[in-house]
Amino acid sequence: MADVFMNTYHRLPVSFVRGEGAWLFDAGGKKYLDFSSGIAVNCLGHAYPPLVKAIADQAARLNHVCNYYQSDVARAFAEKLVAACAPVGMRRVFLANSGAEANEGAVKIARKYSLVKHGANRHRIVSLRGSFHGRTITALSATGQDVFHKDFGPFTEGFSYVPAGDMEALDRALDGDTVAGFLVEAVQGEGGVRALEPEYIERAARLCAERDILLLFDEIQCGLGRTGTFLACEAYKLKPDLVTLAKGLAGGIPVGAVLAGEKAADILQTGDHGSTFGGNVVAAAAGLVVLETVNRKPFLEEIVRKGEKLQSTVRGWKHPKVQEVRGRGLIIAVDIEEEAWPLLERAVTMAGAATPGLLMLSAGKNTLRILPPYIISDAELEQGLELLRGLLN
Ligand SMILES: Cc1ncc(COP(=O)(O)O)c(C=O)c1O
Repeated sequence: MADVFMNTYHRLPVSFVRGEGAWLFDAGGKKYLDFSSGIAVNCLGHAYPPLVKAIADQAARLNHVCNYYQSDVARAFAEKLVAACAPVGMRRVFLANSGAEANEGAVKIARKYSLVKHGANRHRIVSLRGSFHGRTITALSATGQDVFHKDFGPFTEGFSYVPAGDMEALDRALDGDTVAGFLVEAVQGEGGVRALEPEYIERAARLCAERDILLLFDEIQCGLGRTGTFLACEAYKLKPDLVTLAKGLAGGIPVGAVLAGEKAADILQTGDHGSTFGGNVVAAAAGLVVLETVNRKPFLEEIVRKGEKLQSTVRGWKHPKVQEVRGRGLIIAVDIEEEAWPLLERAVTMAGAATPGLLMLSAGKNTLRILPPYIISDAELEQGLELLRGLLN
């Protein structure tokens, strides 16, 4: 029978029926250690008891309230989220459902800010080569990778790209007459786990401030504690104007968010933007648990410690197939001398009664991307690393 799914994904030959902590299980009971967190979504692992309880309790009470009405749960989540992002100047939030949708909202806010403050035709958004911002037409337009663009034009007008680190190119691209916003990831995830150099992004932030161009941080993959600070941009001396979050924000329930600082917090007016499921109460109840759990200093310090342990262990192997290890916190790339995808496949198909499988991601042809759930134990980390070493051998 022909597959009912469209051909969009290269799916590995395994189907999971349940999860617990850092482990997933297939119908035959085989175990798989999760070094991927569902691409940075299951940050608290699988079936985390307080998250399960919050979702179940909320679903039993009320699972959707449309945005005609108030919701105490959505408000509590929004307040906690804004408070978590207040250290970098965030003041208000719009709740959406996905990363791409959050980025679309951020682009709209940047464009309206520019229109209101500076008049028409100052609407361009500059982003970085190698970036990834989502799959809708506008989020794709912002994505600086040709491979995702082919076949889908025409794109949303008004996007251009600069190479990360090239200050002269940025100075030319960010002209104060046509540009509304500069969009970056503090650590490019899909682009190979590449962190922005502090000197570059701090100078870029000054340039944006001088020219009143909004600075947008897409923290959809690298935010929410993954690098060891609540937002990855906290590592730099700057204040973004807009921040987008999604993925792990509700630990596995779809949610997205655009946060705005002083300049842009009051730009959107009634009727300017909206989303049927944005601020959904089940997602909000789950998001509250994620924020309460993750945004605590000792929890964030553990992410840093585990990430350092992971990186130093892989480096310590001095394995001939490992070319480079990089990352921050629990977002780590390992460049290997072979293609990543066949290794990901072997890591799953090796699962048997005695050997667990290992779930990892790729980021480009020769790069393994490792994003373990934050709650992974030291013993599990060590076990996963031994499985990886076995796969490389
Ligand atoms: C940095 C970044 N931005 C945006 C997106 C798009 O998010 P979503 O798939 O939820 O639309 C992703 C997804 O991988 C991402 O990594």
